[in-house]
Amino acid sequence: MFPQFTDDQTAVRDAARDFAQAEIAPGAAARDASGEFPEAIFHELGEMGFLGMTVPESYGGAGVDFLSYILALEQVAYADASVAVAMSVNNSVACGPIMAFGTEAQKQKYLKPLASGEVLGGFMLTEPDAGSDAAALKSRATRVEGGWRLNGSKAWITNGGVARYFVTMARTDPDKGKKGISAFILDAQQPGVVMGRPEEKMGLRSSKTVMVALEDAFVPEDAMLGKPGDGLKVAFGGLDGGRIGIAAQALGIAQRAMDESVAYAKARTSFGKPIGEHQMIQTYLAEMESRLQAARLLVYRAAALRGAGRACTLEAATAKLFTTESAVWICDRAVQIHGGYGYSREYAVERLYRDVRVTTIYEGTSEIQRMVVARELLK
Ligand code: CAA
Repeated sequence: MFPQFTDDQTAVRDAARDFAQAEIAPGAAARDASGEFPEAIFHELGEMGFLGMTVPESYGGAGVDFLSYILALEQVAYADASVAVAMSVNNSVACGPIMAFGTEAQKQKYLKPLASGEVLGGFMLTEPDAGSDAAALKSRATRVEGGWRLNGSKAWITNGGVARYFVTMARTDPDKGKKGISAFILDAQQPGVVMGRPEEKMGLRSSKTVMVALEDAFVPEDAMLGKPGDGLKVAFGGLDGGRIGIAAQALGIAQRAMDESVAYAKARTSFGKPIGEHQMIQTYLAEMESRLQAARLLVYRAAALRGAGRACTLEAATAKLFTTESAVWICDRAVQIHGGYGYSREYAVERLYRDVRVTTIYEGTSEIQRMVVARELLK
């Protein structure tokens, strides 16, 4: 049977499932309503090693392989997609780039607390006028004694207001275009980093997303990540892993929608029999399950490649494109199967439908994934 998991991978997945079902799922609907960020859950995720899963234990992480991380993330998303996105961002685009590009001193200072869950991390690439076209970012990093001062605006920043360290891209040389962008590790605990109010979003309502103003925010000399001009390489390298994470998040949401739909199709009757006995409902269920199975294989394959240290830009993009588009469709069908009840907050599919929608947008829209796939094929 493919994929065949190792005993360690199975153990990680099962531990994640048990924790997610016992501790995360029960409060998901209430947090969706209140918008409360579940600090206590993140404290526990940190203790379990789930916030720096692929980071070696010597740097505070769990030291497991990338596929194990993806399996755990899927289980968390099944329970609550809001928790999953914060977990994904911390693992993939905060710890990931520091692991890949950080100096030993940076790993000791920033990676250890991020991977152990002592503090949370985030990623500041997007700006109000630079989303898909990341290279158009305008934030400036100006040299000052002992380091850099950052000025500009960052938009849609996940974990804003709850995270401490952000991998942040800013322009160090305005004349060098894409090569004039550098990456920094920004400490948000300073007056120069001004967090906006959390955005009022359609879904993922207990995950915090904010606009950030950088007003002479200081970054010490030794907190530049990589070399001057490496900013996009740092960002896009991290996003390859991040995109597999978002695909896993979508997979978890879609699996939940599937399970809710099957249960409802057995329980709800119409025209004198369970609706699951109507061929039109069966057609939906069969198509949903087929897309889910195909998506799962793409996600696990991309994760296995990433874990093996192989190039996976194309596979990460196809996994994200297919899985998130399929997950949006699956959740839409799940609402349809539930009929009027699917439109009610009383049923989980209403939240899943809202939560899943952003997965075709963030960490690279579906249009950007198509562009990445085509470029990889044609280069
Ligand atoms: N890995 C490593 N390096 C990479 C890379 C990858 N996958 N892809 C590109 N690079 C490198 C390139 O080699 C290049 O460096 P060199 O010139 O030294 O070779 C540099 O990065 C710039 O690459 P491009 O010239 O290809 O850049 P581009 O301007 O043409 O952009 C793009 C390409 C695919 C459109 C890119 O801008 C992109 O992915 N846009 C989408 C941005 C995005 O995903 N944003 C998500 C924000 S994070 C988020 O959403 C988090 C959250 O809250 C959940």
